[in-house]
Amino acid sequence: ATPPATPQYRPAYHFTPAAHWMNDPNGLVYYQGTYHLFFQHYPEAMVWGPMHWGHATSADLVHWREQPIALFPDSLGYIFSGSAVVDSKNTSGFGKNGQTPLVAIFTHHDPKGDKAGTSTFQNQSLAYSLDAGKTWTKYAGNPVLKNPGIRDFRDPKVSWNEATKKWVMTLATKDRITFFSSPNLRTWTKESEFGEKLGAHGGVWECPDLFPLTFNGKTHWVLLVSVGSGGLHGGSGIQYFVGQFDGHTFTPSSTQTRWVDQGKDNYAGVTWANTGARRIFQGWMTNLEYSGQVPTSPWRSALTIPRELALRQVGQDVWLAAQPVAEVNKLLQPGSTTLQNLPVTKELDLSSRLPGLAGAGNRFQLKLSTKQLAGFSLVLANSRGEELVIGYDQPTNAYYVDRQKAGKADFNDKFAGRYTAPRRATIPAADLTLLFDASSVEVFADNGLTVMTELFFPTEPFSTIKLRSDAGLVVSDLAYAKLVADAK
Ligand code: FRU
Repeated sequence: ATPPATPQYRPAYHFTPAAHWMNDPNGLVYYQGTYHLFFQHYPEAMVWGPMHWGHATSADLVHWREQPIALFPDSLGYIFSGSAVVDSKNTSGFGKNGQTPLVAIFTHHDPKGDKAGTSTFQNQSLAYSLDAGKTWTKYAGNPVLKNPGIRDFRDPKVSWNEATKKWVMTLATKDRITFFSSPNLRTWTKESEFGEKLGAHGGVWECPDLFPLTFNGKTHWVLLVSVGSGGLHGGSGIQYFVGQFDGHTFTPSSTQTRWVDQGKDNYAGVTWANTGARRIFQGWMTNLEYSGQVPTSPWRSALTIPRELALRQVGQDVWLAAQPVAEVNKLLQPGSTTLQNLPVTKELDLSSRLPGLAGAGNRFQLKLSTKQLAGFSLVLANSRGEELVIGYDQPTNAYYVDRQKAGKADFNDKFAGRYTAPRRATIPAADLTLLFDASSVEVFADNGLTVMTELFFPTEPFSTIKLRSDAGLVVSDLAYAKLVADAK
């Protein structure tokens, strides 16, 4: 039975399915003015089950409309994670009469093979759409890339490689990434492997992505790799490597393990195809430790805000940085508050100056900047004594989110916690963008050099907001606005 509905936890501007289970974002592709988002979906229950590709569309990345399910399980198995491409040269031959096919590349996961203990139950398959993503036809020649016998063999992320004029598939193959190439999406040749001895291996590798980012006139390649346990704060997380990719082999420029998001709740994230120079990322906003138990109903899980990725240099190091896409500004409601030059001596109660906090159900954006970062905490609280604390700790030079007393946490003992993220920026000035959406907060610090994503479930919306600082923080600019996304 479905538990009582929890509209108070439903995000306004983050994508959630109307009902039932969602996990990874899949097949993110922009085509002819529309963003097509697919997602791992079990439409029969609020827990994981036989996987489908759900579908949603948007004109602007911040207003979503759910569409009919795009891909259903079939005789080859469940439809696991994967990607989609615009095959503008019709290399696949799926286009008829000059049509450009959209091609989805996904993992067929055969539950019978899994049960029987075979090691070849995950294989890569294709489906295509000739009506701009509306309806999908599975390729009769599926699967197109067969498992050599290593069990975990999944989550193909495909992109066109200009250097080799071939498609490249980045595939999670147990404890490493395997790259394949293809002229036509139908036949695949193994190129190389990466990562067996690098990065975090607390679980098998999943949901990889590979893409170039230009920084200071130089192209670097970024490889994202999700891992199901052993993440930064326990459980799942997304690590990344920066390096070079010549169309055949990935060579990392650092052997450090780095995380895309330093919070607890961002997994299986990948980037959008066909968005030109913009590299836009979205993740599944939860942690595998409790993804099947979070107290929402009748849906389970939301995706992160779409984030624009960039590389930034700090000292000798190049880091991945992320900021909410600029389209978020479309959601800002009139009547926003801006305040300047606010000294915080011990405690500054902002509640009366940031109207509508609780009324809008904690769906707002808060931006803070300072010329001189000093230890502080931002405390959101309600009449039940629940509080969510976001701050910066000077001695350890780390940002943090503390949800130990932020409401419901009894659904899993790994949920409550205080999560810290090292500050990467080395300049005294700091800026923070905080996106609150009913039951999540995304923290973008220092132009996106430190990012944290955290869920929370208060039993009543937070109605007060206070800034505390013993170190004399002066906020030079503060901007607050409610965020609303009416269905479009
Ligand atoms: C990641 C994942 C993928 C897989 C999918 C199945 O969360 O385990 O590796 O394709 O979910 O739903």
